Amino acid sequence: MTEARAPGKVILFGEHAVVYGHPAIAVPVTEVQARAWVEPGEAGLGVVIAAPDLGRRLLLRDAAENDPLAAIVRLTLEACKAERDQDLTITVTSTVPIARGMGSGAAVSTAIVRALAQHLDHWLSSRSISELAYQAEILYHGTPSGIDNTVVAFGKPVWFIKDEGWEIFWLGKPLLLAIADTGVESSTKEVVGDLRQRYQSEPVRYDPLFQQIGEIVVTARSAIEQGHGDLLGQLMDDNHALLQELGVSCSELDRLVGAAREAGALGAKMSGAGWGGNMIAVVTEETRGRVDLMLRLAGATRVILTEVR
Ligand code: MEV
Repeated sequence: MTEARAPGKVILFGEHAVVYGHPAIAVPVTEVQARAWVEPGEAGLGVVIAAPDLGRRLLLRDAAENDPLAAIVRLTLEACKAERDQDLTITVTSTVPIARGMGSGAAVSTAIVRALAQHLDHWLSSRSISELAYQAEILYHGTPSGIDNTVVAFGKPVWFIKDEGWEIFWLGKPLLLAIADTGVESSTKEVVGDLRQRYQSEPVRYDPLFQQIGEIVVTARSAIEQGHGDLLGQLMDDNHALLQELGVSCSELDRLVGAAREAGALGAKMSGAGWGGNMIAVVTEETRGRVDLMLRLAGATRVILTEVR
């Protein structure tokens, strides 16, 4: 049996604006993970994909072309120059919450690619893994920027500009984050599609907002590299205000962001597509306990405390 894992992620700065060519910063979250393993399968069935968390079990040969689980398996078999019709069972489970802006689709795809390539004795670079996962991201999300598959496949903080490139960068100081779930499902495809429609009918309104977010992201990168927690917190607050103006936040996210700030977080913002999903707050050793408690009291269904290095 071969087994592989992949982490979840959060976007620290720049979601949505990244779809329009501005930079964004994302970091892996190892407290949540997808895990995939490959075993010899039942004779004659071909490739079987089992996703017990989703209540799914499908035969690759019968699966629709646009099914993301089947697509990532087909793409990996092709990249590894392996036959499609071999008897294998691929099982995938995940603790990355689904539809919460934490990269669950990218984590599942990455874990599958890694486990399957390993089983086929074929080495794939992180870059190739990320490119394969991106193809599945298109099926999950429509027009993804590519940031999720990049941060998840490399498992490091990334600076990302769509169609231009990305780089891994280093933090001046470890960053303590509280990640809180509104409990509300959020469809990246829906939120990105809605904003795209509004953008297309009123670009003069949205372009300056994307531009301002881009400028915040540039400053945030230096703040992260120099370990300036206070500045980082302020930039998160500013980025959140612009996301509110973009119309992608919601009352549940705003409530959690307010609660984190009141509890002493250095700053807080929604993270990911919005209209639900998760928010993040920069905390310190002194404030983490109180922020965690206040987030739960304000309705968070789950709080993850993570240290990004
Ligand atoms: C979703 O995690 C982040 C968005 O910027 C969409 C994308 O980058 O593909 C909202």
